[in-house]
Amino acid sequence: MDKLVIRGGNPLLGTIRVSGAKNAALPAMAAALLTEEPIILENVPQVRDIETTRKLLAEMGADVELGYGRAQHRTTICCRTLVSPEASYELVKTMRASTLVLGPLVARCGRARVSLPGGCAIGARPIDLHIKGLERLGASINQEHGYVEAKAERLRGAEIVFDKITVTGTEDVLMAATLAEGDTVMHNCAREPEVADLADLLNKMGAHIEGAGTSTIHIKGVDKLHGAKHRIIPDRIEAGTFIVAGALTGGDLNVAGCEPRHLGALLQKLLEVGVRTAHTTDAVRVMGDGPLKAADMVTEEYPGFPTDMQAQYMALATQAEGTSIITENIFENRFMHAQEMVRMGANIRIEGSRAIVRGRTPLSAAAVLASDLRASASLVLAALVAEGESIIDRVYHIDRGYEHIEEKLKGVGAQIRRIGEMLPKRSVAPMVRA
Ligand code: EPZ
Repeated sequence: MDKLVIRGGNPLLGTIRVSGAKNAALPAMAAALLTEEPIILENVPQVRDIETTRKLLAEMGADVELGYGRAQHRTTICCRTLVSPEASYELVKTMRASTLVLGPLVARCGRARVSLPGGCAIGARPIDLHIKGLERLGASINQEHGYVEAKAERLRGAEIVFDKITVTGTEDVLMAATLAEGDTVMHNCAREPEVADLADLLNKMGAHIEGAGTSTIHIKGVDKLHGAKHRIIPDRIEAGTFIVAGALTGGDLNVAGCEPRHLGALLQKLLEVGVRTAHTTDAVRVMGDGPLKAADMVTEEYPGFPTDMQAQYMALATQAEGTSIITENIFENRFMHAQEMVRMGANIRIEGSRAIVRGRTPLSAAAVLASDLRASASLVLAALVAEGESIIDRVYHIDRGYEHIEEKLKGVGAQIRRIGEMLPKRSVAPMVRA
């Protein structure tokens, strides 16, 4: 397993570019299941979850081409013939977002067999709301042997109210509703930019969707969808991670190729902390030249402060003067990074869904363990300001959602390198047969 070795202390200076949003590319790839014609996606990030989704679709019989070289951020997916509308446990257990194929498969093939994702490091991650939404559209759902089996002759439009706001639940049911007979209205939907981006693609494919990005979405079902070309939006969480890195290291960093209007809650919070930022339409410049002061933060669904930025904010809070109270409202177990930061010298106490961070505490380098995607990003941030050389293990977590993170950070002055697993030296002594 690869590790990242980071020597802290360098301010990040210059321009760092943001890749396409993993959490927009995943539903967009699933949407290709809804048509027999090719879907071309641009600005797809080269991260592990995209490769996992490619395998998932290929296993069903789809032709999936991940571009390389100059076209390296383009993928072309053609689901003309689907031989098995199934998502196996082997793949789903590595990526929960695989459940995004459930809605499209039922809508396109009339049946689907998808492994229940099981929990993950940050929480139980049930998909009961996905299932309820599909049942409202007329699917009959059976759960056994750890799989969800869904069937429907033809889905029928319905009025749906989500009990809780769910991002992939909204996306799953939205995709299914595009091919349902009649009209669907979905209430209490997720308003994340990734939902709106998916609706943009679906409308390019011939769907009739209005209101995506708000909490009420109207869909007029159609009989068929056709091929389309679509550019994935920039990754707002990768952008936010780099913005925090610039603030934390006292740098002057231009985070380019992002959508500042997707970062409102973060930029407002950073202002409270005393971080100076300036933005144009597609870039944010962060100047970490002033002292950081503590500010409480509460994670909420979009447009509130994103849970996917909570761990990164905690790293920043360790360097802010005063006490920051961080409340995690979305997931029940998303503080695992805290103990690793405490090992580096941070002063953090967990009380249920709240983390009390007392700063400013100098951090010292340590060997730490990544537990999930955003926790590993926060440990990279902590290592960038820790005194000495840190080693972050289980870096495959970070590779799920950050494209070439060490190259990008090295390009703006970070002392960071990746080391592969040291393979045991092969014995050179010739085998002596007895
Ligand atoms: C999406 O996950 C993102 N993943 C997550 O990003 C993100 O943290 C999360 O939304 C919240 O913003 C993708 O988009 C691929 P939810 P999702 O359904 O859709 C509960 C990352 O780091 N819930 O909005 O799985 C759930 O347990 C990842 O990139 C149910 O109870 O999250 C949670 O408490 C991590 N029943 C809350 O709702 C359901 O059927 C929000 O979950 C579905 C969800």
